[in-house]
Amino acid sequence: MSDIKKTDSKKTILKILKYIKRHIPLVVISILLAAVIVFLTLYIPILIGNAVDVLLGGKGNVDFDVLFEIMIKIGIVMGTTALAQWVMNTINNHITYHVVEDIRNDAMKKIQILPLSFLDTQSTGDVVSRVVSDVDTFADGLLMGFTQLFTGALTILGTLGFMLRTSPIVTIVVVVITPLSFFVAKFIATHTHDYFKNQSVVRAEQTALIDEMVGNQKIVKMFSREEAVKEQFDEINERLHDSSLKAVFYSSLVNPSTRFVNALVYAGVAVVGGFFAIKGWGSSGAAALTVGELTAFLSYANQYTKPFNEISGVITELQNAIVCASRIFELIEKEPQLPDAESAKALTKPEGKVSLREVDFRYVPDKPLIKNFNLDVKPGQRIAIVGPTGCGKTTVINLLMRFYDVDEGNISVDGTDIRDLTRKSLRSNIGMVLQETWLKAGTIKENICMGKPDATDEEIIAAAKAAHSHSFIKRLPNGYDTLIGEDGGMLSQGQKQLLCITRVMLCLPQILILDEATSSIDTRTEIRIQKAFAKMMQGRTSFIVAHRLSTIKEADVILVMRDGNIVEQGNHESLLAKGGFYAELYNSQFAI
Ligand SMILES: Nc1ncnc2c1ncn2[C@@H]1O[C@H](COP(=O)(O)OP(=O)(O)O)[C@@H](O)[C@H]1O
Ligand SMILES: [Mg+2]
Repeated sequence: MSDIKKTDSKKTILKILKYIKRHIPLVVISILLAAVIVFLTLYIPILIGNAVDVLLGGKGNVDFDVLFEIMIKIGIVMGTTALAQWVMNTINNHITYHVVEDIRNDAMKKIQILPLSFLDTQSTGDVVSRVVSDVDTFADGLLMGFTQLFTGALTILGTLGFMLRTSPIVTIVVVVITPLSFFVAKFIATHTHDYFKNQSVVRAEQTALIDEMVGNQKIVKMFSREEAVKEQFDEINERLHDSSLKAVFYSSLVNPSTRFVNALVYAGVAVVGGFFAIKGWGSSGAAALTVGELTAFLSYANQYTKPFNEISGVITELQNAIVCASRIFELIEKEPQLPDAESAKALTKPEGKVSLREVDFRYVPDKPLIKNFNLDVKPGQRIAIVGPTGCGKTTVINLLMRFYDVDEGNISVDGTDIRDLTRKSLRSNIGMVLQETWLKAGTIKENICMGKPDATDEEIIAAAKAAHSHSFIKRLPNGYDTLIGEDGGMLSQGQKQLLCITRVMLCLPQILILDEATSSIDTRTEIRIQKAFAKMMQGRTSFIVAHRLSTIKEADVILVMRDGNIVEQGNHESLLAKGGFYAELYNSQFAI
């Protein structure tokens, strides 16, 4: 179990290194600066030790010139260290920023090419949490790792060198006691890992719930679900509290216990070193220390142990970062949708002939939905699809747009299999208006131009007039430049729908799809929308999923669906005359 975890961490670290590799020159500079900083920091105790010896050695006759010289040196060394530190921090920030940016970009790119089946079944909150908070936590850990890991490791090596030079015997005291703190920290860190991982998972769950609640506030209120949601929230919070508390408890043990070990080291050096300073080693003086050397030594012992505490802190932080990184990589490495075929052509100015041949499709492996679906649509024909909820109407549309691929059979536009066309060109030749409107935060104009960013004002106004949206847009505070939020803000459902129609009207592709576009709209607006639709559909192949009789009646072909199959097909009169399922639906006033 823990072996699997280790190899997972290793794999994640390798992946992180791949991102860092792009910034190798900066990393090298950063390490060099770290070396300079460490060297200078370690040089200061020597200078101070020298000063102490000058003060003591003179016996009342202090050489102030030498002392002054030493002080100047100390000042210069400190200044240089500070400057180097600043440059190194800036570079590290820069590296981290770019690594994080690259990772986020990759995540965003992946989200755009993930098969819809993934996003349809995944909670948005979880995905958002991976891209936002997990990446942030990772960045914090990475930055900390960069700044403290190098300097820490170099400080340990450097102090060791300096100490060995001064007194090998006292060095042994330090080296023997210090690793204790490291083992203590490591022991604690292994225990902390699980709790951090758990914390991340529970936090994602919480984000998902908040996201759901904020997005569906009205529904929550309408069904008086506040209590239930609150309870669920409390329950998640409880779990988050539990795992955070445990993670924090364990990681907070690290500091006091390492401090304790440091105190031991300091005391050991003071006692043994003091002994040597006073007595010398025997009387030969081979291992004797001056008082200045002892001061330097004490400060080395201090500096030597410090990175051990820091490194253990960094390790906990890095562990948390690695857990978060692995969650991001999980997303980045998700199987993308099948790429467009190498030979895929762009669909240009299609006539609008559409055919479906023996199409089979299922969302879930053991639940066949569409079976042996056949349909031929001539250019310019108007097809209405009717049938009870859940019979697969929207699914047919999903297949036409190639949001999902058929399992068997094929769908073709103008005689070309849609799998031999680029998705982009296929979709840009199909105008779609859905029941749920989709608007982005921005101006009305930006929302209309989405499919044709270079449209002129005249074109936009013409489209708006054709879609019967011009009059209400004109009455908005800033007309076409009025800002709206991504949920459409102050606009009514009907107005939002009119905007979406205007958007399609502006591009006016040869094939149109309207999926229950009028189901949530008042009758007056609906009449206007109907008119707009009628105008739009002239001479265009259109697929209409609708409840309203008027739209359906005028269709050239009505497809009557039931459980994923076409059960009847024909125009209104012939289907009524037949007296089958359609007649039944019709007579029940289309209570579909
Ligand atoms: N992304 C999906 N994953 C799994 N099942 C789905 C998905 N989308 C729709 N379904 C199921 O497929 C069936 C047909 O759905 P749909 O085509 O949306 O029906 P409708 O005719 O009401 O538009 C329903 O039973 C629905 O639950
Ligand atoms: Mg539907």
